[in-house]
This record gives sequence, C-alpha cells and structure tokens, in this order.
Amino acid sequence: MSVKNELVLDKLPKHIAIIMDGNGRWAKKKGNLRIFGHKNGVSSVRESSESCAELGIEYLTLYAFSTENWNRPKNEVRALMELLISTINSETSTLLKNNIRLNAIGNLNELPDKTRNKLNEAIDKTKNNDGLLLTLALSYSSKDEIIHAIQNIASDVKKEKIKSEDINEHLFDQYLFTKNMPNPDLLIRTSGEQRISNFLLWQLAYTELYFTDVLWPDFNKEELYKAIYEYQQRERRFGKTSEQLT
Ligand code: FPP
Repeated sequence: MSVKNELVLDKLPKHIAIIMDGNGRWAKKKGNLRIFGHKNGVSSVRESSESCAELGIEYLTLYAFSTENWNRPKNEVRALMELLISTINSETSTLLKNNIRLNAIGNLNELPDKTRNKLNEAIDKTKNNDGLLLTLALSYSSKDEIIHAIQNIASDVKKEKIKSEDINEHLFDQYLFTKNMPNPDLLIRTSGEQRISNFLLWQLAYTELYFTDVLWPDFNKEELYKAIYEYQQRERRFGKTSEQLT
C-alpha cells in the first residue's frame, strides 16, 4: 500500500525544497559516467514535480546547480547545461499538462546564453499556469543572495526609497530572490549527506529537515510521500512550548 493513503491532506507542506544529491554515486555504482546519473535524475525531477502538483502543494524549489558547481570538471558542467536544455525541451509539455509554472532563482546571468534563453522561453510558456510553482535554483548561492539583498537595501536607503529603521525581517524577505514565496516547510536532501550546502540559509530558519539515504535518481513519488509523512509526524513549535500549541 502507498504511504500516500496515510497522508493528512489538510496538513500538507505548502512549500517543499529539495537538495537533489547522489547522481554521481548512483552512476558510479552502476559503473557509468557521472552524467549518466544526472540524466537519470531527470525522471526524479518529473516524479517530484508531478506528485507535488497532484497533491496540491503550492511551491517546489529544486537545488539544480550551485555557484560552487561551476568548479566541477568542464565537461561535466557543459553536459549539465546541455541536459537542462534537453530537459526543458522534453518536459515543457509535462509542465503544461500539470498546470505547473516554471521559475528560476540564482545568478542566471552566468548561465550560457543558450541555456538561459531556453529557460526563459519555458518560463514564458508556463507563465499563465496557476498550479504548482516549480523553482529551479541555478547558479545559486544563498550567501550571494543575502549579500545582493544587503547591497540593494543599502542602495534604496541611500536613494531615500526606504529608511534604515524600516529594515526588518519582512522587508528583508522582499529583497531576496524568493520574494513573494513562503519559506519552505520541508527540506529534503537525498544521498545521506546531512548539510545545507549554501541553500536558502535565511529561508530555512524554521524548516523541518528530512534526510534520506536514497540517491536522487532513485527518488520517486513514494519516497516523496514518505518524506511528507515524516514531516506530518513532527511538531512545529516555532520556539514555543508544546503546551502553548494546544
Ligand atoms: C547532485 O549530485 C546533483 C547535481 C549537481 C545536479 C542536479 C541535476 C539533475 C537532477 C539533473 C537535471 C535537473 C534539472 C532541473 C533538469 P552529485 O553530482 O553531487 O552526486 P554525488 O554527490 O554522488 O557526486
């Protein structure tokens, strides 16, 4: 029986973020090149997006490429950028069929022109969908995002658009790439690693963390339901006591 049947449908996370990890190890275990793992990771991207859309989850944010990933061997970086193009080509119909709107965050100017253009094309094609918002973090670094926000706040203070005493948590949120998105309720990281790796550092302050040994290409709908089930067993206290919640 599927864990899906155990889920409490009115207690679903609104926003799930995923650090997709383990493609390289998955390929190596099969005696293949790392890119074989990345290619097989595409079906896990599809399964996660489809199941979030089916459940009615509003936001799914996937860490697809970090700024640190630019330091990988050139041929792997090139292959990943090409994989993004071919995935967008093959999966845009899945996005449209499932009413999913595509979005991207990160230092997108650093992407090769071909990749960025293809991405923008798909973002435009799906812009009228009002179901799941699927955000790809590409050339993304949370520390960069925070510095960028601080620079823009400083500039707006200088231009007298805002006063320094207006700076608070909510204003800061509006200067991040994730403005207008709620913070993730659940963060999933696959492959047994237990760290955040420069992903959404500000936004994850009160997020429930879920780590699984499953390697990303093996992550499927059932694995996603298991993560949501585990999330639903947690008590989210946001600093309060258990008694205050009841
Ligand atoms: C981490 O595994 C994965 C990545 C850096 C890339 C993620 C890309 C995909 C899942 C493919 C396509 C994605 C989209 C959005 C179209 P790793 O290489 O760090 O694995 P390892 O830790 O086992 O070496």
